[in-house]
Amino acid sequence: MFYLISIIGSGRVGASIAFLCVANELDDVLLLNRTKDKALGESMDIANAIPSTSKFSIRGTDDYSDLSDSSIIVIAASRGSYTKDRTENIKSQVDMIKEIAEKVKQYCPSAIILVVSNPPDVLTYFFQKESDFSRFKVIGIASSLDSSRFRYFISEIFSVTQSSISNALVLGEHGDSLVPIFSNVSVNGSELNSLINDITRESLINNIRGYWKQLRNYKSRSHFGIAKNTYDVIHAIIDTKELFIPASIVLEGEYGEYDVSMGIPVKINKNGVFEIQKINLDESEKSMLKESAKKIRNDINSV
Ligand code: 2OP
Repeated sequence: MFYLISIIGSGRVGASIAFLCVANELDDVLLLNRTKDKALGESMDIANAIPSTSKFSIRGTDDYSDLSDSSIIVIAASRGSYTKDRTENIKSQVDMIKEIAEKVKQYCPSAIILVVSNPPDVLTYFFQKESDFSRFKVIGIASSLDSSRFRYFISEIFSVTQSSISNALVLGEHGDSLVPIFSNVSVNGSELNSLINDITRESLINNIRGYWKQLRNYKSRSHFGIAKNTYDVIHAIIDTKELFIPASIVLEGEYGEYDVSMGIPVKINKNGVFEIQKINLDESEKSMLKESAKKIRNDINSV
């Protein structure tokens, strides 16, 4: 089957996703940027990473009508930068996502949409409402990145490989109210909760929440982690493999929430999200998740 992966926004994140897709011969890639030269430059560079055995190509454009054959659209565009909080430019980001939703609706009404731009929960919500696409086909990717960070910190504490850690999920907002779910995590088969105390738990939460700021002390932006997490979703859609990750979709009563989009555990295949997983949470995790939903809903209502 023919797929076209279109990536809107060819900054570091969009370009890194494109690089992984073509280097791994997933399918053809279109990079769209409002500055056409940027899209052309990145696609020229990434084109040299296409293996000689590959049937696929990459090209750059600033023309939305080129999206018309896309099956998967990744939104990695951003208007302006932020330093203290991912919601700093919420108004211009929401205006942007509404404009993109209108174009995507016009040119590829059957595509699956992966929202990567910040703040992803709010933007996933607005894209879905604006486009009226099925909520199972508009997926915010970020909680799996936060989960990678959770796994990373646990592996550092116990000096074990990341493969020794199971079920390290982070749910809720991709932001300061994110909720690491400790109650299901195991390290080499032992329950994490039996191995750590409240102080370690608290510092793990703060470290995951502050990861992006700490990283910015050393380099300008993160992009490899989000690129790989997004690539995995594209791969699952194209290869019709089932992928279990936490991701953001508009909720209609799941986890007790309505009218908000936030990270919850889902299964993804060629149709987008095909199952929302109900996992057990302890009382404090439930109440943190409720707070996180409230925070996102306030952000949505602030626009
Ligand atoms: C990150 O968490 C900034 O959202 C971006 O790395």
